[in-house]
Amino acid sequence: MKVFRTIAELETAPDTGLVPTMGALHDGHRALFRAARAENGRVIASLFVNPAQFDEPADLDAYPRSEQRDLELMEAEGVDAVFAPVLDELYPAGFATWVVPGDTGAEGGARPGHFRGVATVCLKLFNLVRPERVYFGQKDAQQVAVIRRLVRDLNVPVVVRVVPTVRDADGLALSSRNVHLSADERALALALPRALQASVASSNPVAAARGSLNGLEPEYVEILDLGNAKLLAAAVRVGSIRLIDNVLLEGELT
Ligand code: PAJ
Repeated sequence: MKVFRTIAELETAPDTGLVPTMGALHDGHRALFRAARAENGRVIASLFVNPAQFDEPADLDAYPRSEQRDLELMEAEGVDAVFAPVLDELYPAGFATWVVPGDTGAEGGARPGHFRGVATVCLKLFNLVRPERVYFGQKDAQQVAVIRRLVRDLNVPVVVRVVPTVRDADGLALSSRNVHLSADERALALALPRALQASVASSNPVAAARGSLNGLEPEYVEILDLGNAKLLAAAVRVGSIRLIDNVLLEGELT
């Protein structure tokens, strides 16, 4: 597996699938690598903790980093090359051009500037790697909506694939931030996936989910329209950790 640290080293090739990540990899990321491995001649992953998308400096500082382990996991999943640039490569002095998505839903409202950072770094990665297909997780459903619209609105020649959310056996969606949950917080956090799942068949899923969060204060509960699918999505805080999750209401994720 090749590891590229600079833009100059990066090699482009046809039939490439790109999986963008911020490292601290878990089985959710693994599912993306596998989906990419299954339908591309070459798989490239990026590993870059993108400061531009962190709306809280403390969150950036606390973001878990485990590069050596991440590289081993990528290699074991058959990733052909990793783009792991230092900060200056993507944001050199004088950097001043941003992609600013329009309506970014409740998640965008809760995290000002977040999707500007996501959209900008993803477009840069698409331009650098020039993949035929890119892979994103359903877990971050508003991120999928932002990337799909970016690709459509700016005519980016790439196919966007969505991979279903990978969960622990008890139902909690895997997230790099879960390592910060205490055992008690983790038990409380389970109310989020349970409330969402229990509300799928309700005539008013938003109200039903709000009513079954077991005391967890929701930042938002909303229905998200991805075009081919509708999702019930929510964010809660458990202690100092912010968790998001969503379930499919109708349609299909592709
Ligand atoms: P990161 O949080 O590392 O996530 C990388 C990809 O893994 C995203 O597409 C995310 O939706 C997916 N993912 C995370 N948890 C998952 C789970 N439990 N099941 C399935 N997929 C999961 O998302 C980002 O990084 C960044 O915003 C990025 C796109 C890399 C831009 O910086």
